[in-house]
Amino acid sequence: MRHNLELTPRLRTAADLVPAGARLADIGTDHAYLPAALLLEGKIPYAIAADLRHGPLLRAKETAAEYGCRDRMGFRLCDGLKGIRPEETDAIVIAGMGGETIAQILADAPWVRERDVPLVLQPMSSLPDLRGWLFQNGYQIEEERLAREEDAIYVVMSVRTGEMPPLTPAELWAGRQSRDALRGPYLEGLIRKLDRAIAGLSLAREGRGEARKRELEQVRDGLQDMKKEWDGWQR
Ligand SMILES: C[S@@+](CC[C@H](N)C(=O)[O-])C[C@H]1O[C@@H](n2cnc3c(N)ncnc32)[C@H](O)[C@@H]1O
Repeated sequence: MRHNLELTPRLRTAADLVPAGARLADIGTDHAYLPAALLLEGKIPYAIAADLRHGPLLRAKETAAEYGCRDRMGFRLCDGLKGIRPEETDAIVIAGMGGETIAQILADAPWVRERDVPLVLQPMSSLPDLRGWLFQNGYQIEEERLAREEDAIYVVMSVRTGEMPPLTPAELWAGRQSRDALRGPYLEGLIRKLDRAIAGLSLAREGRGEARKRELEQVRDGLQDMKKEWDGWQR
């Protein structure tokens, strides 16, 4: 039996945002590394590892057996939170999925907002859509952290029920400004992505995509201002 499970920076950052003592539901768990690590560390007493598919859930059970935490883990084969009862969880992690899937999972489980269950969300794509959805559906992003793995920088959000001030177009893309050490490279990556999208739209026939291009230019300008501010903090 193994006693030490080292998480990658992305999962470590998500694990750090889980409240100590919470009975955790890890939705889309796959190998269940995150809940297993938190159980081994003694940060949480119990976890439910849930996944939509058999294969990942089998991997989750293998991890639990390998690290000797099967007695403190439940396993659910279900879509999102559909197999989780509100009274059996104090915190939820949804990591490694697209932002739209995460929003759909939360939309299908209004009890999460009603009970103000702490959420740790780690979207892999569609971040502007997810931030916009959270704003419009009674959630507030309390904190965002960044994690780097090789060339990729990932966003991890701590979310609770509540209202947040409206986000500017640039904030929808990049989250609120912060002094995070990875913020500069993260903003640079987004600016490059927007520049490519804007260049692509510039090739479109006249008129087509013009509104979208202006929208993206506004976002890019906002990100450049954030980057300048962040650079100023580094001096
Ligand atoms: C890329 S893995 C992420 C695993 C782990 N959470 C992580 O961040 O490393 C995504 C997992 O989410 C599962 N998944 C996708 N949609 C789901 C849904 N609607 N409900 C539950 N699990 C889902 C997939 O089967 C897959 O195992």
